[in-house]
Amino acid sequence: MKKISVLFSILCLAIAFTPQQDKALAASKLRGEKLYNGLCAGCHKPDGSGFTKKKLSPPLANSDYLLKNKKNGIEVVLFGLKGKITVNDVEYDRAMPAIEWTDQELSDVLNYVRNAWGNEGPFISPEEVATVREAGRETGK
Ligand code: HEC
Repeated sequence: MKKISVLFSILCLAIAFTPQQDKALAASKLRGEKLYNGLCAGCHKPDGSGFTKKKLSPPLANSDYLLKNKKNGIEVVLFGLKGKITVNDVEYDRAMPAIEWTDQELSDVLNYVRNAWGNEGPFISPEEVATVREAGRETGK
């Protein structure tokens, strides 16, 4: 019992001293990992390395395209992607379907892929996904 309460206190302290944004990112990543493995991993591999040999799909791990800004990733999952794209100096010319998930789910999966396998990218909120979704609606994407 005592051990458990000590552990519990340590856990509470750890949580209390973690900044809000980090907490939100950690929780989002956890949800995103499940979503990723359920769908994206089939095409981008569980380790995010992509099927690069025959250029069937680009890598997400260490992808300069994905990590360049928030917008690239948000647009790809919201609207899909077709035609030529260069990732880490290699050209791909395939197609990815739009992912018809909620803003929350898309932000979660993006927070996972942008912060897994050594990637590091700032937190993307569901509101940021919603803004890009709305902008796309206006321009007919
Ligand atoms: C049916 C296969 C397929 C699925 C499922 C899929 N992708 Fe893709 N993805 C691709 C292909 C192919 C491309 C490159 C498209 C092109 O050549 O224009 C791509 C491109 C990308 C890119 C931009 C390029 C890069 O490497 O940074 C990102 C980011 C991405 N996908 C993320 C995801 C995420 C996240 C999911 C799950 C929500 C997902 N993909 C699901 C096939 C897929």
